[in-house]
Amino acid sequence: MKKTLDVEKLLAEMTLEEKAQMCSGRDFWFTQDNERLGIPGVMMCDGPNGLRKQTGEGDHLGINESIETVCYPTASAFAASFDRELLEQLGELLGQECQAEHVAMLLGPGVNIKRSPLCGRNFEYFSEDPYLAGKLAASYIRGLQSQGVAACVKHFAANNQETRRMSGSSRVEERTLHEIYLPAFEDAVKEGHVRSVMCAYNAVNGTFCSENEELLNGILRRDWGFDGFVVTDWGATKRRPLGIKAGVDLEMPGSRQGKTEAILKALEEGTLTREELDQAVRNQLRFVREALENQKEDAVFDREAARRKAEEFAAECAVLLKNNGVLPLKKGSRVAFIGSFAEKPRYQGAGSSHINEKHPMAALDCIGGMEVSYARGYDASGGQMEEGSGSQMEDVSGKRTEKISGGQTEDAFGRPTENALLKEAVETARNADVAVIFAGLPESFETEGCDREHMRMPENQNVLIREIAKVQKNTVVVLHGGSPMELPWYDDAAGVLLVHLGGSAVGAATVKLLTGEKNPCGRLAETWPLRLEDNPSYLDFPGKNGVANYREGLFVGYRYYDKKKMQVRFPFGYGLSYTAFEYSDLKLDRERVGDGEILRVSCRVKNAGNRDGREVVQLYVAPENSGVIRPVKELKGFAKVSLAPGEEKEVSFLLDKRAFSYYEERIHGWFEESGSYGILVGAAAADIRLSGRAEVESADEIPMEYTRFSTIGDLAATAKGREVLKGLLHRADDSQEMHEAQMSQNMGEGTDKMMQSMMMEMPLGALVSFGRMTEEQLEALLGMLK
Ligand code: BGC
Repeated sequence: MKKTLDVEKLLAEMTLEEKAQMCSGRDFWFTQDNERLGIPGVMMCDGPNGLRKQTGEGDHLGINESIETVCYPTASAFAASFDRELLEQLGELLGQECQAEHVAMLLGPGVNIKRSPLCGRNFEYFSEDPYLAGKLAASYIRGLQSQGVAACVKHFAANNQETRRMSGSSRVEERTLHEIYLPAFEDAVKEGHVRSVMCAYNAVNGTFCSENEELLNGILRRDWGFDGFVVTDWGATKRRPLGIKAGVDLEMPGSRQGKTEAILKALEEGTLTREELDQAVRNQLRFVREALENQKEDAVFDREAARRKAEEFAAECAVLLKNNGVLPLKKGSRVAFIGSFAEKPRYQGAGSSHINEKHPMAALDCIGGMEVSYARGYDASGGQMEEGSGSQMEDVSGKRTEKISGGQTEDAFGRPTENALLKEAVETARNADVAVIFAGLPESFETEGCDREHMRMPENQNVLIREIAKVQKNTVVVLHGGSPMELPWYDDAAGVLLVHLGGSAVGAATVKLLTGEKNPCGRLAETWPLRLEDNPSYLDFPGKNGVANYREGLFVGYRYYDKKKMQVRFPFGYGLSYTAFEYSDLKLDRERVGDGEILRVSCRVKNAGNRDGREVVQLYVAPENSGVIRPVKELKGFAKVSLAPGEEKEVSFLLDKRAFSYYEERIHGWFEESGSYGILVGAAAADIRLSGRAEVESADEIPMEYTRFSTIGDLAATAKGREVLKGLLHRADDSQEMHEAQMSQNMGEGTDKMMQSMMMEMPLGALVSFGRMTEEQLEALLGMLK
């Protein structure tokens, strides 16, 4: 029979000291055990894109060895799949492995929003868009938890940079927090039913997340109904008793000393209550009970099958960014693979998510019957070349090659010089029909613990690509990396394929994509700006003196570029295919959407090319006449459809009240504004193919306190106000002479518009000043508005 725990009985039997002890882990990875009461500790491990189970000494930076296993694409790659099912499958696989390895909880997914392309952990996060991040996270969680293994969504909240990661504070307005930085966690809780939440290292608006009552007991538990348990990020505890009070159940890793005493002292002093302590222990014991009940003793994990799956995942995530017809590669062409990532792929990020994968598949090892030559091209560590040094290399492709390489081909350690590598690569490319350059960010450029310093690729790679493109018009660049890069050579390349940090099988997947055995179907889950300076957080990232001011507010990613009508390198949602898709027949099941009604939107998508393909259909909602500042449009639905050549399918979306709402600080909640909304369906944020319009008639109201300073326009915000407004307008209509008098003063074109706007902005009190009503009538009117 399975072991279980009687939580309430155990709580009744525990001493205060035992309870206080339970609040910290036993060691680096286990919850606290209690031999006297027969409570075992259960294991938690990193994730999120593989299992990092350490059996020896533990660490939170991926330094010490963990079990050898499969590394899947990172979250930034998976997000580009826009594929809920794929995420669910990933979760299931991870869950199966956790079961076989006796791991009760996997520390993932990470759902923090990509505020800046520079955040060192962007590769571990999904998107700049909260809707996409939330829906994909919920699928991952469902898959993982379907195997009886708990997920732990992290890092709650507003943890969007690595600089001062353990002590900094994110200064974010309430509305921005709710619209941008919290919804992915909310989806993890409400749709994914996540069992655990990891509170972040940083503070939000000056209060550390590990002591943040409003975030934990407030938003998470009270507002979202979370009933699982909260664990700290490793080492995030500041003052333990305050943490328990705020809603943190477990401190990780195991606390060294003094924490139990601090809890007991707080109880004694009355700053912490027994009920608060009991609740923390209860939450944790429930988690342990579930872990025991869900444990599958005979679970086995098929690692080889998982490796095959990793290849499929990598192919589904890749994004074709440019293609002038060079891809897929023509059969029988002589191909040059250039760049050391072809030999040793960059396939995962550094830090706590680092998976011990001993056999990553390099593209060079997967070429099958293809005729492929190879040149290393660059030094993968990033090289010594300074930005702009490309001009020194200019002649490498031309006649004066000898002079440039200076005859020197090795450095003092016997390694080929940059010039020698470059020269060899240019020759290899020249002698082939197509050159495929495997490039991107070296591992040292993006890692947990520090942010990127710039958005550039190493200069030796930029030079290499430019030089090769001069001698080889069919130059394709395969990009590896977890976040956007500046692409100064973009116009020179014939094709660009983004394979992200695609996991251990990235090389095999890349070859299949290049040859057309697989058709790329990923779409960007974040905008690629032309240059770092264009990013909205640029002026205030990573902040100063430990404070990061989120001054750009709601305008993160495409919400900003859209509003400013800015040119970007690649828009959000963008990606090409080897086939083409046609959109038609947008239908809204109603023109007027009454309060609480669901709007069903459908359209048809056809594969108009001659290859199987998968399209990501995106739905954006665009408020047209909002009374507040809102983004031009926001993603509120997406679907991935598989289509054979000539095939056509209907795709449908359901839009609920939340899809039209914004977070209104005056009511501290979501508010659906009545008005017109554009319903836009397309293949990317900047590629809208179909559009319609819905009129939303909401019953939501912001309670207003009317005074003589309220404007006539303010009356429109409430039902009572509208009643009064109707009467006022009626009176204004009657007073035709006023209108005529003003018109006769010949105030020019636009007088009507001016009159209307002045009228709507006129304070009620001014009606008395203009003699439109008496003081007594105004008092009576305000009385009606109470
Ligand atoms: C990271 C977490 C991770 C934990 C345990 C921390 O440094 O921020 O994401 O789960 O370590 O390794």
